[in-house]
Amino acid sequence: MMRTRGNCRRLKTLGTSVRYVNHLLQYTATKDTLCCTVPHIYFPRFGEESMDRVLRWMEKEEIPEDAAILDIGTGNGVLLVELAKSGYTNLTGIDYSAASVKLARSVLQTEDFSNVEVKEVDFLSCSGELRGFDVCIDKGTFDAISLNPENTEEGKACYIQSLRGALKEEGLFVITSCNWTKEQLLQMFNQGFDFVKELPTPHFQFGGKTGNSVTAIIFKRLH
Ligand SMILES: C[S@@+](CC[C@H](N)C(=O)[O-])C[C@H]1O[C@@H](n2cnc3c(N)ncnc32)[C@H](O)[C@@H]1O
Repeated sequence: MMRTRGNCRRLKTLGTSVRYVNHLLQYTATKDTLCCTVPHIYFPRFGEESMDRVLRWMEKEEIPEDAAILDIGTGNGVLLVELAKSGYTNLTGIDYSAASVKLARSVLQTEDFSNVEVKEVDFLSCSGELRGFDVCIDKGTFDAISLNPENTEEGKACYIQSLRGALKEEGLFVITSCNWTKEQLLQMFNQGFDFVKELPTPHFQFGGKTGNSVTAIIFKRLH
């Protein structure tokens, strides 16, 4: 399947706090989440669609409102806000960027969801502190980690180990990627995870071929 990578190459340089510091300053000044809506930057055109897609799937699957849900690499925390608005009560967000954590907490507080926990954690070096989650959600973070030119293979392996540690057995992992195709994700998560389903994403045609700009996959953690 064809994949456009143009916009996604920018992910390589992400993960630094600089962008979040700017967002935090803007947000503090305006209290306008749109001014710092990270998904619009990382997932041009598809940021909100990506969140809606995941939320619709959770509703359809009747994920209980008290399910323990982890947002890996929460960024500005907007997905946590949307989850809380949808009635989910057991939410945790993590990010290794202190500025992101501050921004997400500020956004959640403004939306009256200060009960949502946001922690400064490097997912790649968490030693068992994240565990017992029914659902782990990743939108763009595995992309950022797997596109980092330093230690790419090691980063992917650490990610998978941390994910297995964080999820309960049979827990669900929802990944939205704008870099990897379904086939590539299936290959990368073929140890210890079962493919559950692919969520439909917009198609485009170019040169007689069909492709997707975003891939959204659900996996289940095996024993
Ligand atoms: C592409 S952004 C996506 C942010 C958010 N999920 C969204 O959709 O808007 C990737 C996020 O992952 C965070 N991140 C990258 N590597 C991480 C790591 N090892 N541990 C925790 N967070 C990480 C970055 O700080 C950034 O907030």
